[in-house]
Amino acid sequence: MTHVSHTSVATAPVLQAENLSVFYGSFKAVRDVYLDIARNQVTAFIGPSGCGKSTVLRCFNRLNDLIPGCHIQGRILFDNQNIHDKRIDPVELRRRIGMVFQRPNPFPKTIYENIAFGARINGYQGNMDELVEQSLRQAALWDEVKDKYKRESGLALSGGQQQRLCIARAIAIQPEVLLMDEPCSALDPISTRRVEELIQELKQRYTIIIVTHNMQQATRVADMTAFFNAEATEKGNKMGYLVEYAPTEQIFNNPQQEFTRQYVTGQFG
Ligand SMILES: Nc1ncnc2c1ncn2[C@@H]1O[C@H](COP(=O)(O)OP(=O)(O)OP(=O)(O)O)[C@@H](O)[C@H]1O
Ligand SMILES: [Mg+2]
Repeated sequence: MTHVSHTSVATAPVLQAENLSVFYGSFKAVRDVYLDIARNQVTAFIGPSGCGKSTVLRCFNRLNDLIPGCHIQGRILFDNQNIHDKRIDPVELRRRIGMVFQRPNPFPKTIYENIAFGARINGYQGNMDELVEQSLRQAALWDEVKDKYKRESGLALSGGQQQRLCIARAIAIQPEVLLMDEPCSALDPISTRRVEELIQELKQRYTIIIVTHNMQQATRVADMTAFFNAEATEKGNKMGYLVEYAPTEQIFNNPQQEFTRQYVTGQFG
C-alpha cells in the first residue's frame, strides 16, 4: 500500500489526521490518511469525484457522527487533543471548527438574524449589533446590505451574497478553523473572486481547509494542497486515499507522484 508520511507544515499543526480511515457501514471509503493542517494557512483538498474529500473534511468537526453507520479508525487531533476523547463535546467542537457548505444555506430569517441566531445559541453576551456589523464587514458583505440587513431576508440575497452571509454567520461564532466544501461551486466568477479574496483575508485569523474542483482556485488561495485519489478495491468499490500533500506550488509545478502530475495537468483517467 502506498503510504504518505507526515509532510512538515510551515506553522505548528492545528489539526492532525493520524492513520485515518473512514467507513460508511462496512464500506471503507477512505484509508490510511496522515495529514497535518497548518495553523493560519489555507489548505486545499483536490481530487476526482468520490475520492473522499468531503468525507475527510467532515471528520475534522465530527459532522460524520450525524451520518448513521459512519465511523472512523485512527485518530484526529485538534490542538494535540483527540477529538473523540470523552471530554470533547461535539457541539463545542463544531463551534470551534465551523463549516461552510457548497450550497449557501441561509436561514429563512433576516440577514441580521442569520448571524445573531447562532451567536445567541452559543451564549454570546456582548453587543449583538456590533457583532453582526463586524461579521458582515469581515465577510465583505456590509456595504451591500447595510441599508436593509435588519429587515430583509437572507434568502432575498443573490447566491454569491448568500454564501458570504453564510461565511459571516460562521465567523460570528468565532471559530478557530473554517471548513469549506466547494464554497464557490454555485457562484459566478465575480462572486467567486470575492470569496477567494475573503479567504485570503480570513487566514490572518483562521485556519481554512477548502475543498475545490477548481485548480486555479487552489493555486490562488491555498498554501498547502492535498491531492486525493480513489483506487479500485477487490470488492469492486473505490477507496479514497491521500496521494500527495505538499506546498501548493510544488503540487502544481513539481509533483512527486505521477498521479498528481496527471491530475493537475488534466491528463487524468
Ligand atoms: N452519507 C454517505 N453514505 C454512504 N456513502 C457515502 C456517503 N457520503 C459519501 N459516501 C461515499 O464515500 C465515498 C467518498 O465520497 P465523498 O463525498 O467524500 O467524495 P468527494 O471526494 O467529496 O466527491 P465529490 O468531489 O463528488 O464531492 C464515495 O464512494 C461516496 O459514495
Ligand atoms: Mg465532496
